[in-house]
Amino acid sequence: MADRIAFITGAGSGIGRATAGLFAARGHAVALVDMNEKGGRETEAAIRDAGGEARFIACDVADDASVRNAVGQALAAYGRIDAAFNAAGVDGEVGRMTADCSMDNWHRVIGINLTGVWHCLRHQIPAMLKTGGGAIVNCASTAGIRGAAFCGAYSASKHGVVGLTRAAALEYASQGTRINAVCPGMIETPMTQKPGMSEVIARLVEVSPLRRIGQPEEIGSAVFWLCGPDAGFVHGQAIPVDGAITSR
Ligand SMILES: NC(=O)c1ccc[n+]([C@@H]2O[C@H](COP(=O)([O-])OP(=O)(O)OC[C@H]3O[C@@H](n4cnc5c(N)ncnc54)[C@H](O)[C@@H]3O)[C@@H](O)[C@H]2O)c1
Repeated sequence: MADRIAFITGAGSGIGRATAGLFAARGHAVALVDMNEKGGRETEAAIRDAGGEARFIACDVADDASVRNAVGQALAAYGRIDAAFNAAGVDGEVGRMTADCSMDNWHRVIGINLTGVWHCLRHQIPAMLKTGGGAIVNCASTAGIRGAAFCGAYSASKHGVVGLTRAAALEYASQGTRINAVCPGMIETPMTQKPGMSEVIARLVEVSPLRRIGQPEEIGSAVFWLCGPDAGFVHGQAIPVDGAITSR
């Protein structure tokens, strides 16, 4: 059994999957939480094939009871949660003006990206406090620290994640549980590899100081650092990992 336990949502794809692989390779047992069973099982198989310990747990983060159950399953399997990365998320309908955003899209994106993170915090924090603390990283976005046109619900949800992270960090500062957010720039994952995205990416690369988009492992290594002892004085921050695009 690994010494340290990680709980990662969105582990069935993209950034969550890459981060789960990195935590497993660096000695964590990983609870792989996702609503996509196929993707979650693939991540589980890849980690086990590489000699790591991981277990897929089906969960819809938009549903509080489902998150409570997932945290319970992780505790039953591993006894504790030392690190959590809340990465499950959706982009929703991109390309519409704010007044044209559909009601369904608004509620879906806010329900998964923002309320979903709150559901995770409300079950992860008490679990960590019972076992002496831990570290949590919420996945926001550069769209959570500056405006992102034509995806108002997404941008609002990610600003909300940053606000929630800061509020929770102030509340739990003295209780051994650090809470931060990571704000990825454009990262090469299924979310950004959809039809029609190549032009958007090309334009972004043109104005990006590093002249490229990021890889999911580059978010994973920032999350791993944020959850570890080397980041012991980092708390309540929203850290861009974006090739300096927000430095412009
Ligand atoms: N890719 C980027 O450029 C980028 C940039 C900034 C922020 N982000 C954020 O990073 C996170 C991961 O995105 P990604 O690019 O890896 O996308 P992705 O689509 O590859 O992976 C998202 C994962 O979340 C899961 N998921 C979606 N809704 C869920 C729900 N209700 N319950 C449980 N799981 C659910 C999906 O099944 C999928 O496995 C998201 O929060 C996203 O907003 C991504």
